[in-house]
Parts: sequence; structure tokens; C-alpha cells
Amino acid sequence: MVRVLFVCLGNICRSPTAEAVFRGAVAREGLQHAIEVASAGTADYHVGKPADKRARAAALARGVSLEAHRGRQVAVEDFSRFDYILAMDDENLRNLLARCPARYRDRVRLFLAFAPEAGRADVPDPYYGGPEGFEQVLDLCAAASRGLLAAIRRDHGL
Ligand code: 4NP
Repeated sequence: MVRVLFVCLGNICRSPTAEAVFRGAVAREGLQHAIEVASAGTADYHVGKPADKRARAAALARGVSLEAHRGRQVAVEDFSRFDYILAMDDENLRNLLARCPARYRDRVRLFLAFAPEAGRADVPDPYYGGPEGFEQVLDLCAAASRGLLAAIRRDHGL
């Protein structure tokens, strides 16, 4: 089993979206048995809460459901459990690296490293902005999910 964890600040907007978009891509290629997908936040503000209403609506309009999501915070066990620990932005990355045991540091990367064609490093935080921010999150997650799935297939012979 290859395990992938998406991480943002609150675990109610970006990382639940990335989780659901990537899970859809995995299912379309029939790889659900081989790739486990989850998400978490660096902060604890929204533990146990559903995904943001605006993120849920934007995702549903593209046929992606975040309805089952409940927020959780990154735990130290995540660093040993997950093979790919993918930060939505540079602040999340620095926060993860500050908590990550030294032997697992190479598991922690920026999600958009898998979408070089996007021409940016961060999935911008949509929380304090308008609806277009949530569309941008979905677009970036779709692009990086394609690159990530191709990389996992190549690296793990799937
Ligand atoms: P996320 O967005 O990190 O993409 O889930 C945010 C959610 C909540 C807050 C900030 C960003 N907040 O400050 O509560």
C-alpha cells in the first residue's frame, strides 16, 4: 500500500479538496486497492468539523464530494505511516518539517512540485477570499493529482 497525506492549515478547504480530487483520480485508474489517501491540518482549530461550505459546494459542482470529511490535525505517527506528505503551501511545509523526525524528512514535499506546468509553488489559501479562490484550488489540485499519480505509478510499478 502506498499512503498519501495532504496537509494544509485548517484541514477544511485545501487539503480535503486535494484528498477528494486525488482519490477520484486513483479510483478512475482502478488503484483504490493500492493507494490510501487522507488529509490533515497543521492547526487544531477545525478538528472534527466538516469541510468548509464553500469548498464543498465548489467541489460538488465538479462531481467531487467532501461530505464525509471531518477535520483532523497532523500527528507525529503520520510521518512514519504516510509515504507522501504533501503540503499545500510553504508555511505548511516549514511547519511539517519542524515536526518531522529526521529520517522521514524526504517524505515531506510541496504538492505543486507535481504540477510544474502550473508555474507556482503554493495552493493559495482561499479561506478569506471569494469563490474564485475555491475554483483555483480545484484546478491546481486536478493538475497536481495527475502528476502525483503518474509519479506514484512510475516509482511503485503500479
Ligand atoms: P485550509 O484553509 O488551510 O485550506 O483548510 C483555512 C481554513 C481555516 C483557517 C485558515 C485557512 N482559519 O484561519 O480558521
